[in-house]
Amino acid sequence: MSGREWWRQAVVYQVYVRSFADSDGDGVGDLPGITSRLPYLRDLGVDAVWVTPFYRSPQHDHGYDVADYTDVDPLFGTLADADALVSRAHDLGLKVIVDLVPNHTSHEHAWFQAAMAARPGSPERARYLFRTGRGADAGEPPNNWLSVFGGPAWTRVGDTDQWHLHLFDSTQPDLDWRNPEVAAMFADVLRFWLDRDVDGFRVDVAHGLLKEESLRDQRGQRTEVDHFEMGGLAEDAPMWDQPEVHEVYRQWHRILAEYAGDRMAVAEAWTSTVEANAAYVRPDELHQAFNFDWVLAPWSAPAFAEVIERTLPAMAAVGGTPTWVLSNHDVQRHATRYGGGAVGRARARAATLLSLTLPGSAYLYQGEELGLEDVEVAPEHRQDPSWFRTGQPGRDGCRVPMPWSGDRPPYGFGPGTGQPWIPQPDDWAPLTVAAQEADPASTLAFYRRALALRREWLRDAGDDVTLTVLDDVLTVRRGQVTLAVNCGSRAAPLPAGETLLATGPADGGLPPDTAIWVRTS
Ligand code: NOJ
Repeated sequence: MSGREWWRQAVVYQVYVRSFADSDGDGVGDLPGITSRLPYLRDLGVDAVWVTPFYRSPQHDHGYDVADYTDVDPLFGTLADADALVSRAHDLGLKVIVDLVPNHTSHEHAWFQAAMAARPGSPERARYLFRTGRGADAGEPPNNWLSVFGGPAWTRVGDTDQWHLHLFDSTQPDLDWRNPEVAAMFADVLRFWLDRDVDGFRVDVAHGLLKEESLRDQRGQRTEVDHFEMGGLAEDAPMWDQPEVHEVYRQWHRILAEYAGDRMAVAEAWTSTVEANAAYVRPDELHQAFNFDWVLAPWSAPAFAEVIERTLPAMAAVGGTPTWVLSNHDVQRHATRYGGGAVGRARARAATLLSLTLPGSAYLYQGEELGLEDVEVAPEHRQDPSWFRTGQPGRDGCRVPMPWSGDRPPYGFGPGTGQPWIPQPDDWAPLTVAAQEADPASTLAFYRRALALRREWLRDAGDDVTLTVLDDVLTVRRGQVTLAVNCGSRAAPLPAGETLLATGPADGGLPPDTAIWVRTS
């Protein structure tokens, strides 16, 4: 891993805009809400904040359906609010990464509106993927692809023979990236936000922009929604990870490089191999890619070790920097994934300490520093488009608004007194930021301490790590720090050295579901 750019060792905190902080009491988070809480993030000790989409949008996929890439949705504020957020973050020493959604627009985007009003074969339609249906009356979709959110990936245009492709919701039509107008539009969008001083972009569905040109049927097609494992992990995936997509990122690399300050982009690219993932961070492409193998790894020392051993050389081979992701707004929170309850929360802390040990960047998701778990959201409150398309619970459980203070909803999330857009549970009073700030044994106190120690002992510790797995205990040595995490069911010996931090009581031995950092000279 070469270079000293800020993002190579950064801890990035993901803010899900709707659910972080609500300044105006409408029950939905917004940009001024985020700005007011930036000192909290500075005190937490992160380096950067990634803000999910806040652009004009009908909100069918909560902002991942963009109607205007260069304006702020009134639900979230104004362009002036976005500028104020960036400027306040910079004053506090925090970088800002915004979300870019290039695979699809909203159906309310001016381009799609124009396309629907235009005739088949027109230049307006050529910005999207309109095709003639199959069957005698063109009543069947043009191919067999399924939407990631369930059901066919095609919607028919009225009663014409034309259909349009949407790998996600029908309100998210896919753009045709083989049309140069599309690349030109996004070059302008990048510059618009770079000129407003953002430090980077998180690139949504980075592996999806180019489809195999023939739009042929998928072989061995899945029949169930596989959400965010996506088709990238399927054996045959003509809609994902096509070689031509890399030319897009070479162009973006050049645009980002025109600006001072090591601007960066991080790819959301679900790929079937780590080598395919590393291709997105070749020296002339994007700067980072989320490591979803880390999300998918079970609670197991050999499994964690295997992902580390696979990731580090693949990234090193391209001069890339690894990333470590345990939670985000699309997957179950890691405390829930590792079993939930006291055990899940203990394991989650331990896995976090492991992530923070490793070379590269760590991406945290809001609320994990409070030990939040997924919430069972009642059907009448579910909003995920995949719920409407499939009847499966979807991703709302990890998107419940943050509890800041107080002993009942909305727990200081906003000035209102009612429940926010997804109701918060009645038993979150002990989990609020205010409650945890008062408790030195809280998860929040642990995160603050871990991030401060990471800066001191690990950020500049180089890329070399030594891994050992013994009886479901993983030991990682990096620089002067040794981490041990016990994924087994019996206490293990403590590593030698002076204790820097433990995720739970660890006197005389390392209990199950616990991790420790010790310092050796
Ligand atoms: C990935 C985003 O993280 C997710 O929330 C969204 O639904 C899809 N991309 C579609 O944009």
